[in-house]
Amino acid sequence: MCGIIGYVGRELCIPKIIHGLQSLEYRGYDSAGIAYISKGKIKTIKEKGKIINLEKLLNFDEEAYLGIGHTRWATHGVANKINAHPHSVGKFTIVHNGIIENYNELKEELINKGYNFKSETDTEIACAKIDEIYKQEKDILKTLSKATKVFRGSYALGIICIDEPNSLYAIRNTSPLIVAKSNEGNFIASDVPAILKFTNKYFLLDDLEIAKITMDKVTFYNQDLIPIDKNINTFEGSVEVALKNGYEHFMLKEINEQDKVFKDTINYYFDGTIDSLKKNFKFLDKYKKIDIVACGSAYHTGCVGKYLIENYGNIPVNVEVASEYRYKKCFYDKDTLVIVVSQSGETADTLAALKKAKNDKIDTLAIVNVIGSSIARIADKVIYIKAGCEIAVATTKAYLAQLAIFSLISIYLGYKSKEIKDEELYKIFKEIKQMPKLIKNTINNYESYFAIADKIYKNKQIFFIGRGIDYATSLEASLKLKEISYINSVAYQAGELKHGTISLIEKNTPVIAIATDKNLFEKTISNIKEVKARGAYVILISNEVIKEQLCDEFIKIDDVHPILESILTIIPLQLLAYKVAKNNKCDIDKPRNLAKSVTVE
Ligand code: F6R
Repeated sequence: MCGIIGYVGRELCIPKIIHGLQSLEYRGYDSAGIAYISKGKIKTIKEKGKIINLEKLLNFDEEAYLGIGHTRWATHGVANKINAHPHSVGKFTIVHNGIIENYNELKEELINKGYNFKSETDTEIACAKIDEIYKQEKDILKTLSKATKVFRGSYALGIICIDEPNSLYAIRNTSPLIVAKSNEGNFIASDVPAILKFTNKYFLLDDLEIAKITMDKVTFYNQDLIPIDKNINTFEGSVEVALKNGYEHFMLKEINEQDKVFKDTINYYFDGTIDSLKKNFKFLDKYKKIDIVACGSAYHTGCVGKYLIENYGNIPVNVEVASEYRYKKCFYDKDTLVIVVSQSGETADTLAALKKAKNDKIDTLAIVNVIGSSIARIADKVIYIKAGCEIAVATTKAYLAQLAIFSLISIYLGYKSKEIKDEELYKIFKEIKQMPKLIKNTINNYESYFAIADKIYKNKQIFFIGRGIDYATSLEASLKLKEISYINSVAYQAGELKHGTISLIEKNTPVIAIATDKNLFEKTISNIKEVKARGAYVILISNEVIKEQLCDEFIKIDDVHPILESILTIIPLQLLAYKVAKNNKCDIDKPRNLAKSVTVE
């Protein structure tokens, strides 16, 4: 999604803004632009495509000490130079992340007042509205206060005005924005990586707040212009977290961090005793129904969660994609807990589903990675995963950490429901301790998965099959493969194939079968035989020892308790997807058309 950076200080602003934009590249974008004040004038330069195209148009030594920059991920209007931000109208120039929902209404009104527009964006309308209010108010703070009462929708805005060449302003509603402080000057940014090279001290701007930023001072106001005090945060990670640390891609680096991520996430909530689980998850006792709501990979962790919670906790779980849930009739009540899952904590549909449940006075829990994100701030209760900063657009380590949380929840609920007896409980506890080592070993076997990838990467379509929890894992494995390699891939419940899809299987069609559930193993094997008989090239991933010649390739994973098994199962499939994409020379960390944080509907 769009990225914002702004700077005002004692040092030249252009190099800082470009660095900030580069650090935000992981969010996904299709054009970039910058506006700065130099010799009393606002200059705006923007370009379609990568930041490098913009850099070629800039003089990095230009005497400019205040500026704003933007990477745009097209929503209103195609990706081109005219629609790229910043946008200027009258005395104002702004960058914007989000969507002004009432922009059509505002546009009509502004056209009647003599404004005309060059771009197709809602941002240019917002800029014109600010300019129009300013003509009456003649004061920027009063103008922005009024603007927050006029704009509907989501926005984070960085604003400069030629009448105040030494001040930078920001407002936000729903879309994320931080204000950062350094000795050489101050920043606004959509995310922490953008400012980490310069400072690790930042404030979180809350909904409908206004920030005024000068070289030496940052001041915050509420919507009615009452000054507010804010706590400053310190980002503990180093700049290094935003670097690849020797790996060819962020995705590979993040896959390799998963043993540590598992350990960090588990250790935060579990000290090896049932008492720690009781302390952290006792609040779940009162719920008789659970709705899990999320998007993409986070939805897939919900599918695994449903299976585990129903099996061990004996609680019915409804798992839904957030973009559907937010508009559907929900049958929740006071006994229901709505769990939203989100790495970024900013996904628009997930946020909307959360707000819907809150409005209906249903209890909510968020499983989130980004601390202080919108979802984390709104939910009644938050469980943070400890995945750290995830840069690759395709999630891996956050997915695994979300699974770890569902494992802990299921262990606790299984203990409560007595589905898990003491002996089994202690066996699971022992295995949890071994898991980081098992995760590392699974990652370290990457060469065998890469060898399989080398055999299948040229295929036009690849199928995944599985039953029960293995079907949930298939969904994620299939998404991982298609989003980064652009190979068409579908995940099917293994028993459902013969009801239609099996007609697509022909000689050498790769079918990746997952069979870790011992109760369903024989059933899945029958389905493997069905596709094998039709010429499929079968890759089987299982924790069982295979005696007969069932498949063309076999990936053996360690046999652990079913509550933990899907954490191991996904790893070879992440690495397989990675190598298939690499062989196909795809842009692994930034797949086409995708954004890391999907902050629009
Ligand atoms: C796929 C992927 C996406 C996200 C989805 C939700 O690899 O990363 O499917 O899982 O966009 O994002 P979050 O978890 O930030 O809400």
